[in-house]
Amino acid sequence: MDVVDAIKRQVDLVAYIGRFTQLQKSGRSFRGLCPFHSERTPSFYVFPDRGTWRCFGQCGEGGDLFTFVQKRENLDFRGALRLLASEAGISLQDDDPKRRSHLERLAAIVSAAVGFYERQLREAGGEAAMAYLVERRGLSPETIAAWHLGWAPAGWHHLRDFLLNRGYTEADMLAAGVLVESDEGREPYDRFRGRVIIPIANERGEFVALGGRGLHGEEPKYLNSPQTEIFDKSRTLFGLHHAAGAIREKGEVIVVEGYMDVLGPWQAGYRNVVATMGTSLTRHHAALLRRFAPRIVLALDPDAAGMNAAARAGSLVLGFETDEQAAASARSADELSSEVDVDLRVAALPPGCDPDELVREDPARWEQAIAGAVPFVEFLLGRLLGDARPASPLEARHLVDRLRPVLLAVRDPVERALYIQRVARQLGVTEASVAERLKTPRPARVPRSAGRASPPNPEEVLLAILLQHPALRLAYRNYPETLFTGAVEREIFRRWLRDPETAAEPVDDVGARAARLAAYRLPPLTDFEARRAADEKIAAVLRERIRMHQAARAQELSEAEQRLGPNRLAELAAAAWRGEIPPGEERELAEALIEELELGLSIHRREHPPAR
Ligand code: UTP
Ligand code: MN
Repeated sequence: MDVVDAIKRQVDLVAYIGRFTQLQKSGRSFRGLCPFHSERTPSFYVFPDRGTWRCFGQCGEGGDLFTFVQKRENLDFRGALRLLASEAGISLQDDDPKRRSHLERLAAIVSAAVGFYERQLREAGGEAAMAYLVERRGLSPETIAAWHLGWAPAGWHHLRDFLLNRGYTEADMLAAGVLVESDEGREPYDRFRGRVIIPIANERGEFVALGGRGLHGEEPKYLNSPQTEIFDKSRTLFGLHHAAGAIREKGEVIVVEGYMDVLGPWQAGYRNVVATMGTSLTRHHAALLRRFAPRIVLALDPDAAGMNAAARAGSLVLGFETDEQAAASARSADELSSEVDVDLRVAALPPGCDPDELVREDPARWEQAIAGAVPFVEFLLGRLLGDARPASPLEARHLVDRLRPVLLAVRDPVERALYIQRVARQLGVTEASVAERLKTPRPARVPRSAGRASPPNPEEVLLAILLQHPALRLAYRNYPETLFTGAVEREIFRRWLRDPETAAEPVDDVGARAARLAAYRLPPLTDFEARRAADEKIAAVLRERIRMHQAARAQELSEAEQRLGPNRLAELAAAAWRGEIPPGEERELAEALIEELELGLSIHRREHPPAR
């Protein structure tokens, strides 16, 4: 028995999820409003027998206790394991000691590099860099020291030789991101050459990466460590360790875009500032910051090109040139702020001005910009509306239509009502008319293909097949990990995709379970037969999900039948079948009925394939 099982036994799934949404018993399952999207009719189910949960509504999410925690708390599997272990009062045997010491070694290498570069800045050869920092960038010796800025001399092997002398291996230096592999048997060389070094620490203050700025307009302007096992750009915020105290004190964190935009304000006494590193704010960033303060203020030059950077899943976009951009921005902000439960604001800086410059040139203006930060959606609406005062009813209608996608992206009804109020006021029309204009019939829900939950059995057999047939990796490399319900199964699948040969090494709990599955007795199969068997298992997994979905729907409908009486339900079903969708609460019911009908047909089709 491993830690994962122990945790699942200790932590009551229904009680745990019940902290986040009110659950009611419904047959053998429990039902409530989905904690991951806003809805009026409960379509979120917990199945205590199986230890799984699933939303049959809009978001379609599902999984087990671990995936719930991962999603709810924005954690990876390890993080969820840690949180739940402490919840269950189980102590983890400090992960895997081998891996731990590997990661510690990588951090020690980055840290040694920081020290090395810091000394270079003060020794012969570092004068030009020091002059750049002090004279060109206006940094004080205290700032330079506090942030451990440094200088990487030109030349290919300074750092490598220094670290070799310290007993580190080239393999570890490569893994730490400070060396670059060279081609064809030549020696790896220093990544940073002839650059000012800006050390990047994680929130605990451990150095995990470096940024390097050229002095003479080299390309790229900033060269950064690559992603490594200890550095993930989408989860790291530059300056957080330095800023943590001030962020807590102010209850607010200011997010800027560049290293210098943290250092400048810091030196001027604004110390609750952190930077993303050339990416937009991700959900992970927001979740991390939320641990320190409930309010995030994005300090942006709204007209700068960088800001309209393309959307990446789970990150914030800010754009308002087109209506689609505005809608996408509103949607990503709404998702991010409701998922992380954070007050997300935008402080617009004067055009063409970055925080570093503004703080130096006009600190009052900087303070004003921060104090005047407005909620993200309000900012978008403001940009779209400007100070328009419609001169005609037609113009008012056009304006409302432009705002429509942004307003519709706000899922919380209270919040949305507030924005509708503001818009109505500015346009000089009634709130009711704006609200009415937002309503157009929603397109009927497309029946979702199979949901995503299943009993452990076929999933485990599937994993056993995969683990025992590494050659199948190519065939299944594009399958989503959500094929598996359990967090452990997903993690095993991830590892298998990364390297099928080592996935079953019992390096930790997950590895141990993988090892057991790899030892599972299967009939001897050729790779070809294994693939067929795996496909069958996948089909079984999906079939099971459809059944579950149907069971949940059936439950919902029989409840409705009790509530409304069979006649009304039959009327609704008939109307829905004719394509007449009633308004209000009955609409969801009608959609459920249609889904039920179509699902029934699709299962029927699956089980009785047409004869050829
Ligand atoms: P900016 O180009 O706005 O630079 O990039 P900056 O911060 O104002 O830098 P200075 O003032 O010219 O020195 C913003 C951030 O984007 C990342 C860096 O984190 C930078 O601080 N970036 C930018 C890179 O990683 N690489 C680049 O080549 C450019
Ligand atoms: Mn700058």
